[in-house]
Amino acid sequence: MITVKTEKEIDLMREPCAIVRDTLAYVGSKIKPGVTTAELDEYAEKYIRSRGAEPSCLGYCGYPASICASVNEVVVHGIPGERVIREGDIVSIDLCAYKNGFHGDGARTFLVGEVSEEKRKLVRVTEECFFKAIENLRAGTPLYDIGAAVQRHAEENGFSVVRALVGHGIGREMHEDPSVPNYGKRGTGIRLKAGMTVCIEPMINMGGYEVDFMDDGWTVKTRDRKPAAHYENTVVIREDGVEILTI
Ligand code: MF3
Ligand code: CO
Repeated sequence: MITVKTEKEIDLMREPCAIVRDTLAYVGSKIKPGVTTAELDEYAEKYIRSRGAEPSCLGYCGYPASICASVNEVVVHGIPGERVIREGDIVSIDLCAYKNGFHGDGARTFLVGEVSEEKRKLVRVTEECFFKAIENLRAGTPLYDIGAAVQRHAEENGFSVVRALVGHGIGREMHEDPSVPNYGKRGTGIRLKAGMTVCIEPMINMGGYEVDFMDDGWTVKTRDRKPAAHYENTVVIREDGVEILTI
């Protein structure tokens, strides 16, 4: 069931979304060669709690941490641990915060020191995919126009779009309807309505779109082990466009 939020509910979502934005920036400032992803998780959890919010991911379906930290060939859902960040890595951080009865969700991919031209392009294009997706998005837009815009921009740049994972609605639950694929045919799908809140989250691979699910039950890697990038924001559909809550 897709929920349409009232203006009051959207106002309640502003705070968890702002906390997601600020936590992403804070964790990003801590990403340096030598730091472990477990340390990044600790920084994030402390910061989220210091703002009076809860890390929504912690304990979600048994997930053991407050953030997902996905390095290089890890597409998403990297479990923080002893992996040491190195110069040249790209590190995507995905996190959710719960406050006021609502969740916010966002992700960024950070560059560590000197990063290859190819990886920098991947990270740039992944962010651009999000902005292409929202360019013409407003009440009445068919849902799969989002994926069509992401797919077009990624593929025009020689990259591929992960199919096995998708964006989603968000609100009182971290994952609500509808699913928001990053691929699809323009002009198809339900028409979005003003007041829907969705997470648009391009996951873009440098090589092929296929992914492997690891035995830890969470980590998703590219099948060819080439790098992947992720960028995500929580947005509200408005009559005349979208409002981004996590920037
Ligand atoms: N933030 C992720 C998303 O975009 C959720 C990660 S799954 C979790 O849907 F278990 F880590 F929470
Ligand atoms: Co999400």
